[in-house]
Amino acid sequence: MDLRVQAAGGPLIGVLRVPSDKSISHRAVLLAAMADGVSRLRGVLDSADVRSTMGAVGALGAEVRLAGEASGGLDLEVTGWGSRGPVSPGVPIDCGNSGTTVRLLMGVLAGWPVDVTLTGDESLSGRPMRRVTEPLASMGAAFDTSPAGTLPVRIHGGGLHAVRFASPVASAQVKSAVLLAGLRADGTTTVTEPARSRDHTERMLPAFGVPVAGDASSLTASVDGPAGLNAADVVVPADPSSAAFFAVAASIVAGSEVVLREVSLNPTRTGFLRVLERMGAQIARSETSSVGAEETATLTVRAAASLVATVVTPDEVPSLIDEVPILALAATQASGTTRFEGVGELRVKESDRLEAVRAGLAALGADVEAGEHWLEVTGPTPLRGARVPSLGDHRLAMTWAVAGLVAEGETIVEGFEACDVSYPGFGDDLSSLGASVSPG
Ligand code: S3P
Repeated sequence: MDLRVQAAGGPLIGVLRVPSDKSISHRAVLLAAMADGVSRLRGVLDSADVRSTMGAVGALGAEVRLAGEASGGLDLEVTGWGSRGPVSPGVPIDCGNSGTTVRLLMGVLAGWPVDVTLTGDESLSGRPMRRVTEPLASMGAAFDTSPAGTLPVRIHGGGLHAVRFASPVASAQVKSAVLLAGLRADGTTTVTEPARSRDHTERMLPAFGVPVAGDASSLTASVDGPAGLNAADVVVPADPSSAAFFAVAASIVAGSEVVLREVSLNPTRTGFLRVLERMGAQIARSETSSVGAEETATLTVRAAASLVATVVTPDEVPSLIDEVPILALAATQASGTTRFEGVGELRVKESDRLEAVRAGLAALGADVEAGEHWLEVTGPTPLRGARVPSLGDHRLAMTWAVAGLVAEGETIVEGFEACDVSYPGFGDDLSSLGASVSPG
């Protein structure tokens, strides 16, 4: 499905509670599936990616019941496999488009005597899996992958030993997989990363009865195994990565004022707010609170009087890795050259996002250049409407929809349904703020 977006004829005005956090939702479902007893999860994101995780744990022997639906997501009751362990499903588990599902599942399953094959869609089947299979193999699990180290992956789990693993990439998926496997190993499993990635796994495990030792300054996290999980109640706040699209939209459409409620402000996720504020965005925080182990706030974003370019350094990239496309769009409206350094990881996301952002912004008339690990955008540039492809990548689909608001004439986002991966109602929410969008 294509989405037709007209240049904004007026400000964006309104109040939204964007859908629940995708990363936290995956972890809530996975940890509940691993636990003994019945966990109650409130506000789990209802999107294609989280449905992949729900389907996977169901196939592995957990029971997932829908207890109700609320605005931001699903209320679930999950009976875990607990100390009985998961069962081998006999057929491959399809992880769809979801890197978090497949990589965290590898860690969950590595320490159990199961034989499980994980598959995914075309995009996921091209993404690197050795970054997870190698450390898990060093703990004692066995994996068959394609010769390129991609899906399908067959896991032969078994007895694990604890490791100290220094990850070459700042990846929460890698870190989480190793820590979750460590729960089945004897001794202390420690992961060190080159920069701090999102820490939702470390924050959520204690609620399930498992302490995590960690130290942000030394970039390490450790668990002591063997450790079993006990059922817990988890509430999921709104996703900052989804809120980011509206924070940028409100900043660049003249006269706008958009209120975003109950947004997770976990510092490992809010690099985009720090960058936007450096650029001159007007973002006020109120109703600061916490939901479970995660801090939250209401964000009120008013159109910026003007935006200025900034440099995004490699150490801050993990805290905004999923927001680079929408920040690059903001940079087209800022004066000067904005440079994103150390963003090579974008090449192995749901698409080659570095090349896709460069090509899409160039098609819209922006002044943009990319290298193997960097992106530069020089502004301010008036954009002009164009046809831009989502490439099946949810974050690109939403970035191009927001771009259409500041591009002259009409922008057509091809394959807009990709946004179902993390934000199925995105087009409706954009329209509720006054944007003119229609399926085309
Ligand atoms: C995620 C971690 C990040 C992020 C992805 C979700 C997670 O990936 O890009 O959208 O939930 O752990 P990496 O761990 O590969 O950086």
